[in-house]
Amino acid sequence: MSLDTPTAPGETTAQAPRLEVAHLSCVFDGREVVRDVSFRVAPGEIMCLLGPSGCGKSTTLRVIAGIERQSAGSVHADGKMLCNEVFSTPPEARGIGLIFQDFALFPHLTVGQNVSFGLRGPKARVQARVGELLERVDLVGYADKTPHMLSGGEQQRVALARALAPRPRIMLMDEPFSGLDNRLRDGIRDETLQLLKEEGTAVVLVTHEPEEAMRMADQIALMRDGQIVQKGAPYNIYNAPCDKAAAAFFSDINVIRGRVTGLLTDTVFGQFLAPGVGDGTEVEIVFRPQHVKLDFDRHGSGPNPTPQDGVPARGLVERARFMGHESLVEFRMDFDGGRLKATVPGVFLPKPGTPLWLSVRRDRCFVFPVTA
Ligand SMILES: Nc1ncnc2c1ncn2[C@@H]1O[C@H](COP(=O)(O)OP(=O)(O)OP(=O)(O)O)[C@@H](O)[C@H]1O
Ligand SMILES: [Mg+2]
Repeated sequence: MSLDTPTAPGETTAQAPRLEVAHLSCVFDGREVVRDVSFRVAPGEIMCLLGPSGCGKSTTLRVIAGIERQSAGSVHADGKMLCNEVFSTPPEARGIGLIFQDFALFPHLTVGQNVSFGLRGPKARVQARVGELLERVDLVGYADKTPHMLSGGEQQRVALARALAPRPRIMLMDEPFSGLDNRLRDGIRDETLQLLKEEGTAVVLVTHEPEEAMRMADQIALMRDGQIVQKGAPYNIYNAPCDKAAAAFFSDINVIRGRVTGLLTDTVFGQFLAPGVGDGTEVEIVFRPQHVKLDFDRHGSGPNPTPQDGVPARGLVERARFMGHESLVEFRMDFDGGRLKATVPGVFLPKPGTPLWLSVRRDRCFVFPVTA
């Protein structure tokens, strides 16, 4: 089954993905805030929608959940259609768990009653499930409290437990860990994911934090202006970004410019291949600070060029800062007076004005044509 031919209403196939979103668009006030978004999520897989504020992440989730209607496209679960332009299964009949940015607990119910809200069956089994979940979200002993007695982060964890309780086959999570402090967040995040994986739930997780996406996702869909601009495993998105903005979303970047002649671009760091880019085109060579190698200045000269690291170029340290697990060194380059950044593991704090030679791992440079 291809992404372009989702199954018809009511039809199921053995290989259907747990969740399939195909060509989804959503228009508000004449503006298309989600544009032709397609992705699939398998059972136990975590798909992260990553992108800046306002790019359409929550709207995409809301359409999948059934609380917003699309203008085009369809959503299928296990091959069964949940909605398209004309048909829509009500939210409560979709078997989808939700944790939204603006989650709300039932204020008049206890924590235990909130968590057991969607559960049916013998009381002992329900209570056992509630106990198990409260333990997972680190809220043992909270079952009889009411939401107003809880901090924001504690309430968020109750919402998480409530959404997980009925073992939904699809879970939609919109920035579910954003209100938690760092220490709690890492623990709860890992616990939650393990639980969802164990239960074979397909997860769509929305975040605007690249570190969170890298840490949690099996697949990342990078969104911009309502569209998915790149989709893939975290490693691939990080190491083969589709354009400069995609590279810049994950870390600081360095950019130098050049012009293509005969498929090659001459730069101070040596020649770069620019496959498929026409002669005379201006290109940007983009690389991350952690892929810059530093060498000491030996009476005005640097290390010899190598095939792996290209040609070194000299710069003067402008400032150096210790960032915790690495140091960030900023340079003003001799060749054009431009600034480049390098990160070095551990503590490396050379004085301003120190000359150092920079070279760049060739296989970690990305070459993109300059766009207006
Ligand atoms: N009900 C609505 N009516 C009109 N415009 C809306 C509506 N919901 C969202 N929008 C607009 O659609 C765009 C996408 O919003 P959305 O909430 O999907 O962004 P987001 O990627 O989740 O952002 P954030 O990271 O800030 O939560 C925004 O410009 C927003 O103002
Ligand atoms: Mg949002």
